[in-house]
Amino acid sequence: MIRRSFMAALLAVPFVASAQAQQTVKIGLIVPMTGQSQSTGKQIDAAVRLYLQQHGDTVAGKKIEVVLRDDGGVADTTKRVAQELIVRDKVSVLAGFGLTPLAMATAPLAAQAKVPMVVMAAATSIITAQNPFIVRTSQVLPQPAAAMAQWAVENGIKSAVTLVTDYGPGIDAETWFAKRMKEGGAEVLASLRMPLASPDFAPFLQRAADAKPQAMFVFVPSGQGAAVARQFAERGLDKSGIRLIATGDVTDDDQLNGMGDVMLGVVNAGHYSAAHDSAVNKAFVGAFKAANPGMRPNFMAVAGYDGMHAIYQALVKTKGDTDGAALVEAMKGLSWESPRGPMMIDPQTRDVVHNLYIRKVERVDSELYNVEFATIPMMKDPAKP
Ligand code: PHB
Repeated sequence: MIRRSFMAALLAVPFVASAQAQQTVKIGLIVPMTGQSQSTGKQIDAAVRLYLQQHGDTVAGKKIEVVLRDDGGVADTTKRVAQELIVRDKVSVLAGFGLTPLAMATAPLAAQAKVPMVVMAAATSIITAQNPFIVRTSQVLPQPAAAMAQWAVENGIKSAVTLVTDYGPGIDAETWFAKRMKEGGAEVLASLRMPLASPDFAPFLQRAADAKPQAMFVFVPSGQGAAVARQFAERGLDKSGIRLIATGDVTDDDQLNGMGDVMLGVVNAGHYSAAHDSAVNKAFVGAFKAANPGMRPNFMAVAGYDGMHAIYQALVKTKGDTDGAALVEAMKGLSWESPRGPMMIDPQTRDVVHNLYIRKVERVDSELYNVEFATIPMMKDPAKP
C-alpha cells in the first residue's frame, strides 16, 4: 500500500508540474539595466512593475511572471539571453529591446521560435518588418522628425543642420526631417552623424554652428540628451542665435530636469510628456512617482506600461491561449487611451499609431517639462506607405 501510493505520488509529480507550467505565462523582459542606456531599462522595468501592481498578476486565468534580464545594451548578450529565455524558461513573450541593434539581433530567433517580441524602446522604422511576430509600443523616429520639420517650415525656418546619432533611428530622423523640410521649400545645409558609443558632441555641435543655419535639429537616443545640452551651453551656442530643435528623445523627462535653463524654450516633437494633460496621465505619473521615489516617468516608461497593456489585452482576447501567432493576431488593431494619449497598434504593420505633440520646454512648479502646444493626431509611421 505504502509502496503503491509512493509510486502514485512519483507519477503524479510531472502532471502537477506541467499543470502549473500551463497556468503561468512568462514574459521575458530584456532591457539594459547597466551601461550607457541604463535609464531606458530602469524606466521600463519600473513601469512594468507598476502595471503588475495595478492590474494584478493574473489575466484570463493565467498567472503572469515577468523574468527580467539585463543585456547591458550589447546585442550579442540580448541574443544569448533571448535564446535562454525561449529554450530554458519557455517564455511566451519577449519584451523590452532598449536599442535598435538589440531588437534586430533577436528578430531572427524569435521568428524561428514563433515567440512575439513586444518592442518597448527601439525605434527604427524597419524593425517591425524583420519578422511577423514583432509588435511595437514605443515610437518610430520618422514620426517626430516629420512632425518637427512640419512645424519648422510652418514657422519660417528656411535652413537647418541635422545632427543625429549614426545608426538606425538617427538615420531615420535625418531622412524624414530633410524630406519634409525640402517638401516645404526649406534647406538642410549639412547632415552630421555622431557615434553611438561614448560620443563627444562638442566638435559636431561646432561644425553644425559653423554652417550658420537658422536651426539645429538634433536626435540622440534617450539618456544622451543631458550631455548634448551641457556641451551646447559650454560652447555658448545658446547665445549664437541658432535655434535648437529636437526629437523628444533629447528632452527626455528622465533627464530634462537636470539639464537646466539652457533648455528653456527648446521646441521639440514627441509622443509623450510627463506633463500631458489628461486624467489617465496624471494617475500614471502619480502612481509611478509614488512607487519609484526620485524618478519621473519618461517615454520609455510609458512604452513599457503600454506594452504590458497590449500583452494583457491579447491574453484576454485569446482567452489565455499563449500561441505566438494567436497573441500577435490579438494585438493587431488594439486601441486604448495610454498616458501619452490615444494609441493603436496598426493592424497592417504592427507598429504604433499615436499623437505627435509639438512641445516647448518650460518651468512648471520648479521642474522642467515638455509642455505640449500643438497636436498631429494619430500619426502612422510616415515611412510605411
Ligand atoms: C533605438 O535604438 O532605436 C532608440 C533608442 C533610444 C531612443 C530612440 C531610439 O530614444
